[in-house]
Amino acid sequence: MKRIKLGVLVSGRGSNLQAIIDNIENGLLSAQVAVVISDQADAFSLERAKRHNIPAIPVSAAGYKGKRDAYDALLVKELQKHHVELVCLAGFMRIITPTLLKAFPNRVMNIHPALLPSFPGLHVQKAAIEHGAKFSGCTVHFVDEGMDTGPIIIQAVVPVLDSDTEDTLSARILKQEHKVYSRAIQLYAEGTLKVEGRRVIMTGGRTSTDDHLINP
Ligand code: GRF
Repeated sequence: MKRIKLGVLVSGRGSNLQAIIDNIENGLLSAQVAVVISDQADAFSLERAKRHNIPAIPVSAAGYKGKRDAYDALLVKELQKHHVELVCLAGFMRIITPTLLKAFPNRVMNIHPALLPSFPGLHVQKAAIEHGAKFSGCTVHFVDEGMDTGPIIIQAVVPVLDSDTEDTLSARILKQEHKVYSRAIQLYAEGTLKVEGRRVIMTGGRTSTDDHLINP
């Protein structure tokens, strides 16, 4: 199978990027990371990319305050230069504009550490605990113009324990993030995902209604 070319946008430590790279190297994901771009020059993610001989490009947002479209045009140029077919946001701490979305229609994914549409935005693991949710998890979705509002591709669910802190819940969710992001990319690469309005339909998707989780 042809390897789909990914452009991964990051801002920080890059554990999701690392999981994607590892899953490719382990043969679990038919993809190639064509380029990693960071808005932060000192992001550890760039170091991770370099260790795997992946082009690692810092694109500073300094001087682009209030000019998000112009900044995204820079991203589009880099992504196109590397023949990227699917853009993966992995801890990229900027809102994407229509400039990027129009260049990659339904071809931008994001991972979010909560079960959307609950808890969009930042510090969502803490928010889930404080709200008293009994489950949380993570969501991979296509990106639209809103904040964490695009069509949902896949979710993983984890229990929220009474003893949880933000750190323990984040770690439990992150473990699942590292699995489901690659799975979403693989499903996309196989051409099995179809976006119908807000819904992402998977051809040949599962039909069992037996799965359930109860906590406590
Ligand atoms: C992850 O929790 C992801 O869901 C969120 O940002 C965090 C990035 O972590 N969007 P990492 O940089 O991939 O380790």
